[in-house]
Amino acid sequence: MGSLDHLTWSIVALLVVLLSRTNAEVINLRWVVAIDYTSGPSAYPQPIITINGGHPGPLINATTNDVVNVNVFNNLDEPLLFTWNGIQQRLNSWQDGVSGTNCAIQPNTNWTYSFVVKDQIGTHTYFPSINYHKLAGGFGPIRVNNRIVINVPFAKPEAEFDLLIGDWFFTDYKVIRSRLGASTEVPDIILINGKAPYGYSALKPYESVEVTKGKTYRFRVSNVGTTLSFNFRIQNHKMVVVETEGSYTNQITLDSLDVHVGQSYSVLVTADQEDADYYIVATPKLLNTTDDSPLVAKGVLHYTESGSPVSGSLPTGPDPWDIDFSVNQARSVRWNMTAGAARPNRQGSFNVTNVTLSETIILHGSHANISGSFRYTVNNVSYFTPNTPLKLADYYVNGSGVYQLGEFPTQSVKEDADYGVSVVSAIHKGWHEIIFQNDALMSMDSWHLDGFGFYVVGFGEGEWTVGSRDTYNLYDPVVRSTVQVYPGGWTAVYVFLDNPGMWNLRSQHLKRWYLGQELYVRVHDDDPNPAKENPPPENLLKCGMFGEPIAPGGAPEPQPGW
Ligand SMILES: *[C@@H]1O[C@H](CO)[C@@H](O)[C@H](O)[C@H]1NC(C)=O
Ligand SMILES: *[C@@H]1O[C@H](CO)[C@@H](O)[C@H](O)[C@H]1NC(C)=O
Ligand SMILES: *[C@@H]1O[C@H](CO)[C@@H](O)[C@H](O)[C@H]1NC(C)=O
Ligand SMILES: *[C@@H]1O[C@H](CO)[C@@H](O)[C@H](O)[C@H]1NC(C)=O
Ligand SMILES: *[C@@H]1O[C@H](CO)[C@@H](O)[C@H](O)[C@H]1NC(C)=O
Ligand SMILES: *[C@@H]1O[C@H](CO)[C@@H](O)[C@H](O)[C@H]1NC(C)=O
Ligand SMILES: *[C@@H]1O[C@H](CO)[C@@H](O)[C@H](O)[C@H]1NC(C)=O
Ligand SMILES: *[C@@H]1O[C@H](CO)[C@@H](O)[C@H](O)[C@H]1NC(C)=O
Ligand SMILES: *[C@@H]1O[C@H](CO)[C@@H](O)[C@H](O)[C@H]1NC(C)=O
Repeated sequence: MGSLDHLTWSIVALLVVLLSRTNAEVINLRWVVAIDYTSGPSAYPQPIITINGGHPGPLINATTNDVVNVNVFNNLDEPLLFTWNGIQQRLNSWQDGVSGTNCAIQPNTNWTYSFVVKDQIGTHTYFPSINYHKLAGGFGPIRVNNRIVINVPFAKPEAEFDLLIGDWFFTDYKVIRSRLGASTEVPDIILINGKAPYGYSALKPYESVEVTKGKTYRFRVSNVGTTLSFNFRIQNHKMVVVETEGSYTNQITLDSLDVHVGQSYSVLVTADQEDADYYIVATPKLLNTTDDSPLVAKGVLHYTESGSPVSGSLPTGPDPWDIDFSVNQARSVRWNMTAGAARPNRQGSFNVTNVTLSETIILHGSHANISGSFRYTVNNVSYFTPNTPLKLADYYVNGSGVYQLGEFPTQSVKEDADYGVSVVSAIHKGWHEIIFQNDALMSMDSWHLDGFGFYVVGFGEGEWTVGSRDTYNLYDPVVRSTVQVYPGGWTAVYVFLDNPGMWNLRSQHLKRWYLGQELYVRVHDDDPNPAKENPPPENLLKCGMFGEPIAPGGAPEPQPGW
């Protein structure tokens, strides 16, 4: 009897511990995704993908370990998927929302994503992942806040602002999609939160952010564009970089910050100038522009007591062609090893100084003509999207009939460019070194891996060699989900593959991605006991070899206010 009491008390104690740890919330969102012709930045109507009528889409404001349910109603005339850029979907690639993990949500149907922002913090974004939809919008901000019990390595700011900045085209996304080829189309404008530059048009709003003299603010700056990297700066103000894609950085004070496609940063800005209005600008990299160009994004930092509009010339930035400036800045963005993040232990408890590498993968991002079509390639293989998502094929039929492991060249470039359903098999819980080469000499690239963070250990010019390892920073490399690759150069990352699943490794440049510069990494744990990965969700959509997608009209019509 005494032992029963003991058992009972043990259970009570365990429950108390569990309850005090699981103060996670459930965030239920209902998104109606539709086309709108009126909210464009230019005078010409163009189709824009809105969420609940807005562009950009709504903020997902979560805290570490919260559950996020997003019921997506697809009112477009095409299949749709959203991916959660930087959210690691622990053991749950079923929710990743890319063509290799999910069947698309058909027009006039709805489908609910359900995922946990497990052990994460920081600034991320979401966007549509198929059909070139990202060109038309549908993107939005994700914040993952620290749990209250964990110290953040800087004082609580007065307020936070999400600045989604990116290049934009005035042409209908379907028209651009239909003529993607060897020609390079330069974007028309750079927008801040969907808004045109200050002074661009009297009829269109510009972005304005209100601050009070003496206070400090957190700006979460993301590049939601398709092609252009930009340099971000605020007239007469310094910024302190504190976080990037879920990692607290060593705090460095900058006049300007380069942000590449798909990346996010948090910077602290103190309103320490005279009461006035100041320019917020983002200028494209690797492009010559003049101050009045629509490709120079301009917003306004408005002091509460300001009585005058912005004045003076735009703050000057680095030469857009100065790669050394950008590389040096990138090298100075380092992990704060002593800061805690999602958990109280120091970020530096993951120390890569002397990890044993299981494998090195070398990936050349390039392009080629395949059967007369212009395509982007990885090691001369252009990804071919099968009708059946890889994840479903993996789970139900061990990939058979959909993809073949061992075909993709992980260390060399195929002699003849070709299509392929590229899936790389990787060792569960192995440390992998990935080298990204950008074969383009005039344009940036950036790479992203779902499910994991990259430890960014090095950048260099030309071809990577084994000797390049001597230049790595293994002491405090920053961990992030998207990394830039300079023209004709390489970027090296380490990644610890502790998250079983089928994970997308892609160029974040929309045209490169859409035309084949991607592959999947299959991280598989042979041990079925205890089961590591989540089983398929109850609402799993089937398609391809597993059946037809649900016919349009299968779900109720969304009502206003949903
Ligand atoms: C986001 O969530 C945090 C934590 O619950 C809260 O303090 C904050 O006010 C929220 N921000 C917004 C914009 O909803
Ligand atoms: C579609 O929306 C309805 C109404 O909100 C909901 O009950 C249902 O679960 C959703 N369907 C899917 C597949 O998520
Ligand atoms: C950009 O401008 C610089 C001078 O400021 C010039 O040397 C260079 O040729 C220009 N580049 C292009 C691509 O126009
Ligand atoms: C790193 O984080 C700690 C908090 O753990 C903070 O006190 C320190 O200032 C940070 N260091 C730098 C260089 O940002
Ligand atoms: C990482 O570990 C190595 C030894 O394995 C040690 O020399 C180094 O100081 C550690 N780095 C940090 C930042 O703690
Ligand atoms: C580095 O290697 C040494 C010797 O193999 C080992 O004792 C040490 O724990 C390792 N450090 C880390 C941070 O893994
Ligand atoms: C690729 O094909 C296009 C049109 O078919 C042609 O104009 C171009 O020269 C080709 N490029 C190469 C590198 O062969
Ligand atoms: C699944 O396929 C792989 C090769 O792609 C093979 O090594 C493995 O044995 C297969 N597993 C089963 C259960 O058939
Ligand atoms: C890639 O394939 C093309 C032919 O499609 C070939 O001309 C080129 O040399 C290949 N690249 C390499 C590095 O082998």
